[in-house]
Amino acid sequence: MKRPKTQDERDLLLYESRLLRPVRLKTPEFERGGRIRHVIFSGQFSVPFLEELAGIADMIRLMSKSREGQDFLINLLPHKRAMLYFTQPSTRTFLSFMAACQVLGITCNEVRDPSTSSETKGETRFDSIRMFSSYFDVIIMRSPIARLAESCAYLMNDLDSTGNRSVPIVNAGSGADEHPTQALLDIYTLQRSFQFASPKDSPTANKFDELRERKGYAGLTKGLPHKTIGFCGDIGRGRTVRSLAMLLALYEGVRLVFVAPNHPKLAMRDDLRHRLLDRKVCFHEVESFEDTLDGRPVIEQLDALYMTRIQKEHNDPADAASMASIDFSRYGLTPELVGRMKEYAPILHPFPRDQHFGEIPPEIDNDPRAMYFRQARNGMWIRAALLAHVFDADRLISRHFMTDYVERHNYND
Ligand code: CP
Repeated sequence: MKRPKTQDERDLLLYESRLLRPVRLKTPEFERGGRIRHVIFSGQFSVPFLEELAGIADMIRLMSKSREGQDFLINLLPHKRAMLYFTQPSTRTFLSFMAACQVLGITCNEVRDPSTSSETKGETRFDSIRMFSSYFDVIIMRSPIARLAESCAYLMNDLDSTGNRSVPIVNAGSGADEHPTQALLDIYTLQRSFQFASPKDSPTANKFDELRERKGYAGLTKGLPHKTIGFCGDIGRGRTVRSLAMLLALYEGVRLVFVAPNHPKLAMRDDLRHRLLDRKVCFHEVESFEDTLDGRPVIEQLDALYMTRIQKEHNDPADAASMASIDFSRYGLTPELVGRMKEYAPILHPFPRDQHFGEIPPEIDNDPRAMYFRQARNGMWIRAALLAHVFDADRLISRHFMTDYVERHNYND
């Protein structure tokens, strides 16, 4: 290991032994009073928690349709302040967290460019974080540095144990490591798709019985268990893939299919492979949608497809020759491929999509299976639900919804 030169590097090393522990040993440290306090990786979540959170997100979504509901929500947390510390580019995560804060009445502030902060004068990241915790009640952070958010959670816990002010840390994307709140919105979108209930969130809306009985999907059930979910593109460098795959691993009988070039940077990495093996998840690694699964091409067997962008910005010059020999056209969708997918199978993408690579060309956007814009909007609802959970306001939302709201407002979507 390189000798640390800066205090920033020494700070990270301080938590090295804690960072290297298995997830199950860390998880209790990110909770308080049986509730999640720091949101660091998707391994913290359980199926009951995901269902509870989806329920709160649904209530927030429905309440936001009326002025009365909006007034209730915006008066829930006006005494809370959030710092959005995003030192890596973001559109959706930043804006949907900001919108989620606005829905709940939380005031936001932001640092997006460290060149405008005192980090340029030599201030360490940990000092910056500690300063944010002096002024704000939650720190939502995106960083190119893997595990920085986790280290900041330990910093906050250490401050707490010595009687100092400490606030929750929410990981909004940490290097190539994890993007747990993206996984929450991905699961929420899949949950809604497989309810076959909402015309907005399910490609086939209310046609569940018809699909099952008459259209040859005899084994189709509601919900996520026993679904075959495909991931396509940059599997190796995709933090969203890593976080979502670990959530899907929680559901009984789920089968995962990873469609990626057979290249060490792009194919699945050993850490995810070992985690899936540990959990006894059934998964397949293939190089093309035309490879077969149960005797038929993969594209025809998927219950949902998660496309990803090839992250060229992380290409290493040393890989130029090996990457040049890859036929990347196999990792893009076409209307013809979509036409061969199951009629109810939603297509997700964490976005941004790459207009130059074209992994999902715009011709597909009007297909009922194209769920990616709705998926991005779901991010606002699920992040609002998450913040409500962190600040213990979720119970107020569900009490108000059940006792007052639902009787006066009858929305069916
Ligand atoms: N999906 C996602 O994280 O998008 P942004 O990078 O725009 O936040």
